[in-house]
Amino acid sequence: MSWDEHTRQGTLDLVRQVGAWIQNERRHFETGQVETKSLNSLVSYVDRNAEDSLIQGLQTLVPESGFLGEEGGSQSWVDGGLNWIIDPLDGTTNFIHDLPPYAISLALMDGDSLRWGAVYELGQDQLYWAEKGLGAFCETRRLTIADGPAIDQGLVATGFPYHDFDLMESYLKVLRACFQGSRGVRRFGSAATDLAWVADGRFQAFFEHGLAPWDVAAGILLVREAGGYVGTFSGPAASDLDLVHSRQIVAGNPTAHATLESWTKTSFSL
Ligand code: IPD
Ligand code: CA
Ligand code: CA
Repeated sequence: MSWDEHTRQGTLDLVRQVGAWIQNERRHFETGQVETKSLNSLVSYVDRNAEDSLIQGLQTLVPESGFLGEEGGSQSWVDGGLNWIIDPLDGTTNFIHDLPPYAISLALMDGDSLRWGAVYELGQDQLYWAEKGLGAFCETRRLTIADGPAIDQGLVATGFPYHDFDLMESYLKVLRACFQGSRGVRRFGSAATDLAWVADGRFQAFFEHGLAPWDVAAGILLVREAGGYVGTFSGPAASDLDLVHSRQIVAGNPTAHATLESWTKTSFSL
């Protein structure tokens, strides 16, 4: 099992290096370089090259590990082993429109459990990371939200539906509860960053439907290690692996999470 101080540092260095490359590409990025994957789902060489660089670096650092990456650079899940879940650029639409935030999201799973994760938000140049049992950090600053405020004293982050509108009515019901029961709702366009900012106490809670494992894996560990709770719309998941694949997420400090979960539970009947 080769995950230790050395590989942790190496992984953080790799994330910083790929982040610097993404920021450099942003300086001369042109909209003609954008491709459409599906309705409102954009991609460019920046996403693909960043994923390739991450996979290459991680293969050297932890040779026995498998990968699940959004851009499909290498799909080689090792059942029961160590696996990386990678979103090389979370917030691609923001990146293309030259808007912050956008981030690298990288998580390491050990069997069914999240073991380590990092969200590198490039707009503010802040590297968040967490390790199971060790805590959550922004660079070296420890994050704690265990005593965070109730939702009526807080902000709720979310992502709006943009390609699958089937659950719109349920979604609007939760939004209505958030409008009436919190200080306000924010939609920034990078789910990984939303979760990192919950862990950092900027947002008190977050919910979204339809997210993929690479959008949420690192952020889940950040929130949990900061003392918050993360689950599905109807309650806790059986395992981290189930949670990252559940396509529904509610996160927050303990009190705000409980309130938001009660709203998603009653509004969505999934
Ligand atoms: C997206 C962002 C966004 C969320 C979308 C994701 P991408 O990821 O996380 O906040 O609302 O559902 O797909 O495509 O920019 O990596
Ligand atoms: Ca994403
Ligand atoms: Ca992405």
